[in-house]
Amino acid sequence: MSSSPTHYDLLIRHGTVIDGNKAPRYDADVGVIDGRIAAIGPLAAHTADISIDASGRIVAPGFIDSHTHDDQAVLSQADMTFKVSQGVTTVIAGNCGISAAPLRDDMDLPMPLGLLEAPVHGRFTSFKGYLDALRATPSSVNVAAMVGHSTLRAVVMSGLDRPADAAEIAAMQAHVEEAMQAGAIGMSTGTFYPPAVKATTEEIIAVGEPLRARKGLYVTHMRDEADKVMEALEETFSIGRALGIPVVVSHHKVQLPRNFGRSSVTLPFIRDAMQHQCIGLDCYPYTAGSTMIRTDRGMLDGRVLIASSEPHPECAGRDLADIAREWGIDKAAAAQRLQPGSAIYFMMDEEDVQRILAFDETMIGSDGIPVGEKPHPRLWGTFPRVLGHYSRDIGLFPLETAVWKMTGLTARNFGLHERGRLIVGHHADIVVFDAASIRDTASYEQPATPAHGVDAVIVNGQLTWAQGAHRGNRAGQVLMRRAPATDA
Ligand code: ZN
Ligand code: CU
Repeated sequence: MSSSPTHYDLLIRHGTVIDGNKAPRYDADVGVIDGRIAAIGPLAAHTADISIDASGRIVAPGFIDSHTHDDQAVLSQADMTFKVSQGVTTVIAGNCGISAAPLRDDMDLPMPLGLLEAPVHGRFTSFKGYLDALRATPSSVNVAAMVGHSTLRAVVMSGLDRPADAAEIAAMQAHVEEAMQAGAIGMSTGTFYPPAVKATTEEIIAVGEPLRARKGLYVTHMRDEADKVMEALEETFSIGRALGIPVVVSHHKVQLPRNFGRSSVTLPFIRDAMQHQCIGLDCYPYTAGSTMIRTDRGMLDGRVLIASSEPHPECAGRDLADIAREWGIDKAAAAQRLQPGSAIYFMMDEEDVQRILAFDETMIGSDGIPVGEKPHPRLWGTFPRVLGHYSRDIGLFPLETAVWKMTGLTARNFGLHERGRLIVGHHADIVVFDAASIRDTASYEQPATPAHGVDAVIVNGQLTWAQGAHRGNRAGQVLMRRAPATDA
């Protein structure tokens, strides 16, 4: 059988495909035309504008970061090198109750809303304004975005130390409806944080009402990830059931030494609940978390590193205990003096982290915070750390499973249409990496360093990262959610 050669925009030759759906790897060439995967198979006889030799390399769907705070970074650091260099081609933004829109120009941003960078060209008063800006000036990654409930509270309420009243709930509902119409994929909450601590379950259900008809997602940094983690899971699931929508438990963990080991109870509970409703969860591969500097809830019990501090930028990267000793005060007083800012808290157990990562339904999400010089290393290291350290080096799960947790599973849970799998017809979001050498290099001391072993990253058919350097392409798109018919 002979046929005339096809000319591809981009051809990845001699690689080993991992398809993002847990199928065993197989050898094939991958051809791209017009931003889509046009062919997979023996294509060596064909020609292409750009040819990539992937001999001995894995060719996989681009990674989807299921949990990010990149809402402003995709505009202000549009090359997104800290993500692209890991093989990430899509980020889910608007997590933990925090979003870049809607905001008012005349409002203060209480922490943790200030964890997002200040906008370069003014604040977005509508979600449509935010997504339009992303479409007008694309970044190097695709973005799917949620509207944050804490942001809505801050924009609508006169004070945050109480539940919302009926008029405030109606105003927040209107914002959720506007966001969903504009293309948001759902709403997130962060009842762990001061701006939303006083929000009741009923308030969240009422504010989220527009999600029901529009099949949006409910995604949450739960009220409690320590002593009351079970109650928090129950609350989360009850909100999903009340609205008839899927839920995602963000960065699942069990905090504080007295709760170490409790993932052996939370995970079976989650698995049981999955029989009756649509539930997803994500996890980052580290025993330290990172968020705003706060002194309550046992956050200062373990080792604490300062990631950023507005009044004391010189303290970034330093141990809170050392700063306190130097200042002759206790850790809590020092932390207060460093606010507002962000910190890294060592508060999880390695066994829990591994048990949660290995749970079949757990997606990989970085929760990286793209501000400051000393961010948590998860910002640059999450994906290569799972592929290198956890899958290859300690054998927590096969490479095919690792890839699925960052591609096919995530695309399914978030309803990202024609993404997350390496199959003909899908958008050409692709990563080429070396399974033998891929590893994270970002450490707590040197957190802003690119991964080893990522050869090439392609976003919507455009070569974006190659041979350790950004290629300047910014081909990211705004992604909408397409809910499968089977969603609860
Ligand atoms: Zn969070
Ligand atoms: Cu987060």
